Amino acid sequence: MFIVFDGIDGAGKSTQIELTRAWLVERGHVAETLYDPGSTSLGLKLRELLLGNHDLTIAPEAETLMFVAARAQLVAEKIRPALESGKVVLCDRYTYSTVVYQGHAGGVDVRKIRAANDLATGGLQPDLAILFDLPAEVAFERIGGNLDRMESRGLAYFEKVRQGFLVEAQKNLSIARVVDATASPAAIQEIIQVHLREVLMHREAAR
Ligand code: ADP
Ligand code: TYD
Repeated sequence: MFIVFDGIDGAGKSTQIELTRAWLVERGHVAETLYDPGSTSLGLKLRELLLGNHDLTIAPEAETLMFVAARAQLVAEKIRPALESGKVVLCDRYTYSTVVYQGHAGGVDVRKIRAANDLATGGLQPDLAILFDLPAEVAFERIGGNLDRMESRGLAYFEKVRQGFLVEAQKNLSIARVVDATASPAAIQEIIQVHLREVLMHREAAR
């Protein structure tokens, strides 16, 4: 089973991934948490270039392809093998992030990003995508002062990011579930468990 957690920076994805992992393990599942970008040697090198505060110029299209390249490696090296061995994969970000940050907010052609994502993932879609919704100002308050290369893009960019995720949620109704990230961590976890139970039930029924 493949579960994606995505949404604006600071929305509480890491917090909820950890709570979800514990909940699944308690129920006898073997769960692996993966980070996009990251979780592979190539992904970590690209992450440094993409998020580090350096003076390297990176064109929007190059940035898009770097995120997508990290994802291609993550799918091949980590996600597919984990799914094949029967693990539940909890992935911190996935294809939605590139469509939203580089596409909706960054101005790169969204259709071309979808095609690049498709190349990178071989069409691998999650069983469930939890999309965290949070006003951009609240996201910034939570992030604090130490901003990375992406977070330095300012409030107007992050407003577009928030709206972009809501648009993508509407386009992926069978997979995506929007959660209100202003709720308490416990309340959000309860909602996530409701969505997870639904997916687990469907999978059980399909056997
Ligand atoms: P992300 O992985 O999406 O960046 P984190 O889980 O790291 O988000 O959370 C970002 C910050 O917000 C952390 O300081 C965390 O303690 C806090 N936080 C997480 N969930 C909530 C919540 N539901 N309400 C308020 N603060 C939260
Ligand atoms: P990360 O630390 O994973 O997220 P968070 O700050 O929510 O904990 O940072 C990843 C950053 O990269 C984040 O600002 C979103 C951005 N990003 C893109 O712009 N495009 C992408 O395809 C991905 C995966 C991330």
